[in-house]
Amino acid sequence: MAEQAVSGLGRCTHAVVRGIPDSFSQQALRSRDCGEVDLARAHREHELYVRVLKDKLGLQVLELGADHLMPDCSFVEDVSVILDETALITRPGAPSRRREVEAVKKALQDLQLNVVEMTDENATLDGGDVLFTGKEFFVGLSKRTNQRGAEILADTFKDYAVSTVPVCDTLHLKSFCSMAGPNLIVIGSSEGAQKALKTMQQMSDHRYDKLTVPDDAAANCIYLNIPSKGHVLLHRAPEEFPESVKVFEKLKDHMLIPVANSELAKVDGALTCCSLLINKPSNE
Ligand code: GLY
Repeated sequence: MAEQAVSGLGRCTHAVVRGIPDSFSQQALRSRDCGEVDLARAHREHELYVRVLKDKLGLQVLELGADHLMPDCSFVEDVSVILDETALITRPGAPSRRREVEAVKKALQDLQLNVVEMTDENATLDGGDVLFTGKEFFVGLSKRTNQRGAEILADTFKDYAVSTVPVCDTLHLKSFCSMAGPNLIVIGSSEGAQKALKTMQQMSDHRYDKLTVPDDAAANCIYLNIPSKGHVLLHRAPEEFPESVKVFEKLKDHMLIPVANSELAKVDGALTCCSLLINKPSNE
């Protein structure tokens, strides 16, 4: 039954990432004007992000080529939700992003995951709206994700409870929250973030610990549990969010890895957006 299933949150052997196309700075979708994107800097930040996954954490990283006709293609998180051996290929909410699924689908098939496609034309789902806690899913109902998308996710991952959370002021649910450990939700301080957390708490049978950070954008972190390293948290850099980083520094059991993300953030890109994380120990 849904309540009994527990996945090894953060366990990860592989990652899929995708390069940044030249069209990124001018044409990537953005919810508001946050200033001009410095493309060279975006490339550097993305390169460092990939190096952390590959060299520092020892993941097998599959790097897909950028496609200039798909300005948002680096945000691979939105096109698939992966849990254990199953990858749900989503139907992204922005029509301009729908073709991004093809290359990712092929990569996940090549990794021999059980690939399930969201073909219902009434459904939309962005992976950025999907928070998996290890015990259950929360799905943000946003401009990009609708109820039908959440239903198909629930049909795909039948062992887990799926609850929906309205998301109004930001692009995605994970624009202001993420997991920092098996039972620990990181949450931003804005009214919208706090309201969403309250909704999640009301809908869940589990009592999660929370880590509140002053900046919503800093609440999007990547938690990994790597056998040789233990709890690992990739979080935004102190130059970007010094007050939020002070909060992360209280996590004494975690290996903390600051990662700058200033340029991708200008087009609503968060840390989780740029990778699909897969646990496939048998392929090592
Ligand atoms: N730029 C990320 C998105 O809008 O999907």
